[in-house]
Amino acid sequence: MTSFNVAIDGPAGAGKSTVAKQVAEKLGFLYIDTGAMYRALTQAALARQIDVNDEEALIQLLRNGNLELAPSSTGTTVYWDGEDITEDIRSNQVNQTVSLVSSYKQIRLYMMEKQQKLASEKNAVLDGRDIGTHVLPDADVKIFLTASVEERAKRRHTEQLNKGLTSDLEAIKRDIEKRDALDSNRAFAPLKQADDAEVLDTTRMDINQVTDAILDLVKEHSV
Ligand code: CDP
Ligand code: CDP
Repeated sequence: MTSFNVAIDGPAGAGKSTVAKQVAEKLGFLYIDTGAMYRALTQAALARQIDVNDEEALIQLLRNGNLELAPSSTGTTVYWDGEDITEDIRSNQVNQTVSLVSSYKQIRLYMMEKQQKLASEKNAVLDGRDIGTHVLPDADVKIFLTASVEERAKRRHTEQLNKGLTSDLEAIKRDIEKRDALDSNRAFAPLKQADDAEVLDTTRMDINQVTDAILDLVKEHSV
């Protein structure tokens, strides 16, 4: 039996992880947060003072380390060598460094292989930047989620405030724009809409509307 895969790509704050998790839950599929994998490697490197400009050192870290993703009620618990780093991977420092770490081809190839293996074993929803274009070019359903940068920054800002943290809307917007530009302009597997992806502009859609729209698309493609 071959697995059924849903690919969700798009820029930061488009709602990918929130919606991918909900869609996976409704379908009884595995949710694979590919961004968490690049974030975990970035966090592991920062914690060990490994130079993030040194691709070879990062590859060694990736090969020798043990990165695990475990589904949890809030999304995904992320472990590096058995240590729970779920919170650490969302820090500002990781936000500012992850696009550099994820620009290296050898690192992407390693991650892609892991992601393809997971997706081949189980029905799964994967979210990221290159799922529909590179990781799973034959995914059963491909979605490109977007929203205006103002709306995406506002969502991240609200998220921070709801956690009781201080937040600077303009700084978040700058960070998102910078990360989107780096992710879109890297040479290998950039952030890009697949030609055969369905585009959903979620600027004026709430989470449940987006989830329902994706479930409808899945239904259309599963007959
Ligand atoms: O949640 P957010 O959109 O802010 O980011 P994420 O999905 O956790 O991804 C963090 C970073 O990982 C992105 O900005 C990309 O640099 C990288 N990434 C990637 O290159 N390819 C993927 N498939 C997923 C993430
Ligand atoms: O994974 P990605 O960076 O694409 O976005 P996310 O982390 O899923 O969503 C960023 C924030 O926007 C979360 O706090 C979501 O609850 C919120 N959101 C929203 O308000 N409306 C949507 N249609 C989608 C997400």
